[in-house]
Amino acid sequence: MESLLDNLYPNAADVPQAWQLGAPLEQRDYLVGGELRHWDGPLATVRSPVWLKDNGQEQQVVLGHAPLLDADTAMTALDAAVQAYDKGRGAWPNMRVAERIGHVEAFLARMREQRQAVVKLLMWEIGKNLADSEKEFDRTCDYINETINALKDLDRRSSRFELVQGTLGQIRRAPLGVALCMGPYNYPLNETFTTLIPALIMGNTVVFKPAKFGVLLIRPLLEAFRDSFPPGVINVIYGKGRETVSAVMASGKVDVFAFIGTHKAASDLKKLHPRPHRLRAALGLDAKNPGIVLPRVDLDNAVEQALTGALSFNGQRCTALKILFVHEDVVEAFLDKFTRKLATLKPGMPWEPGVALTPLPEPGKIDYLDGLVHDATDKGARVVNEHGGRSRGSFFYPALLYPVSAQMRVYQEEQFGPVVPIVPYRDLQTVIDYVLDSDYGQQLSLFGNDPATVGSLIDIFANQVGRININTQCQRGPDTYPFNGRKNSAEGTLSVHDALRVFSIRTLVATRFEDDNKALFSDIIRNRRSSFLTTDYIF
Ligand code: G3H
Repeated sequence: MESLLDNLYPNAADVPQAWQLGAPLEQRDYLVGGELRHWDGPLATVRSPVWLKDNGQEQQVVLGHAPLLDADTAMTALDAAVQAYDKGRGAWPNMRVAERIGHVEAFLARMREQRQAVVKLLMWEIGKNLADSEKEFDRTCDYINETINALKDLDRRSSRFELVQGTLGQIRRAPLGVALCMGPYNYPLNETFTTLIPALIMGNTVVFKPAKFGVLLIRPLLEAFRDSFPPGVINVIYGKGRETVSAVMASGKVDVFAFIGTHKAASDLKKLHPRPHRLRAALGLDAKNPGIVLPRVDLDNAVEQALTGALSFNGQRCTALKILFVHEDVVEAFLDKFTRKLATLKPGMPWEPGVALTPLPEPGKIDYLDGLVHDATDKGARVVNEHGGRSRGSFFYPALLYPVSAQMRVYQEEQFGPVVPIVPYRDLQTVIDYVLDSDYGQQLSLFGNDPATVGSLIDIFANQVGRININTQCQRGPDTYPFNGRKNSAEGTLSVHDALRVFSIRTLVATRFEDDNKALFSDIIRNRRSSFLTTDYIF
């Protein structure tokens, strides 16, 4: 391990040509009212999780700088969005759906041109490996395409009239107003765009603030945003949330708040809104998804799924398996197989072929994880895997903790990193109680093949979490499936279809089914006197 850690960080010259950094990125641009504005104020230093060797010394890479906008400047972005929405009278919220789709398609084409630049920054800014960075970019493009198709379907269904109890009606979804969209650092592109794009395409105007890490990777997309949408429809701001977003929320001018992060930050921001009853929210929050290994189980599959579930992207996924309950009858065999498989995961830099374990972007994270491990070992757990918990710079080698008990911090805290707690159990009721009493309710995984036990647990857990995964890890995808959570884990449901609903409201035009009204509606439709009341069919 010593030599592995010694050789973990490369020299600058050893970074493959395609992923070399070049000069530091001095970003001073932000997007407001359809123009890239130059920020002359203070900047934040953007550091990479990657360290490089220089004359034998290892140093954290400084990637560049990003604007630290102040509250007044953030408010100019909000004002631009408010103006573009213009109380629902703006060109964007009134545009025909087919036209809005055209703008999003234009953006998607421009975005695709930036794949290499964004993928490179995903690796350097958050340490995501090349395969997963490419997947994040491509999945986001697919999501945009699927959103366009889902809206076409929705619009086609809305292009017909209904006649109920003598009332003729047409129901369409209309936008809500100004949306504030903020995403998480672990999926700075994908998760942000899963709210940003539906918000836009439904006719809302948007203020978007990138995540705390993964900031520079939005820069290659600013021109595409600027050129693809009318001025003020999408505005991109940077800086500390406390400075910028707090002012935006406190203004009371935000109608929809789309946020992926901690429940504490979400609550603090929501509380700032002076008219909370007018604020819609779509929130993806904390989670502590358990993996439950039953005594009758395909252990090889359980180990494989639990390993990727717990450790892909170093455990930095909201859907990661963050605690494993393993039945006493199989726990020794599980530990043995798990440690052997874990040892095959390759540590290294994000661009190295086959690499699975990479450095972590959050400052202070190594100390935090050390603290969790020490707390657990002080209270009777041991680190089962060789080298578990060793660290170097911002890299932390996964620690498999066993036996974990309720007194340990890691039993409850969301580690969001490469620490895998394993709790042995004999009585299934203790596991059921853990789920029932948990503050979180996103997903869980059940590993077992006894139909009676699995069937009854499905019924017990169906009222506890948003998704029960059988013999497979927890995950968000496919993106057409609902993604949500109970308790502190989420507010609202996101999926390709659901997101369109989250950012809009059903609006009905109705009349009594009488000759005069029929003639009136016919005229409006035939002579295209309304964008809303229309039977246009999008092909
Ligand atoms: O961080 C939370 C993500 O929504 C998880 O998505 O399950 O596809 O990794 P994923």
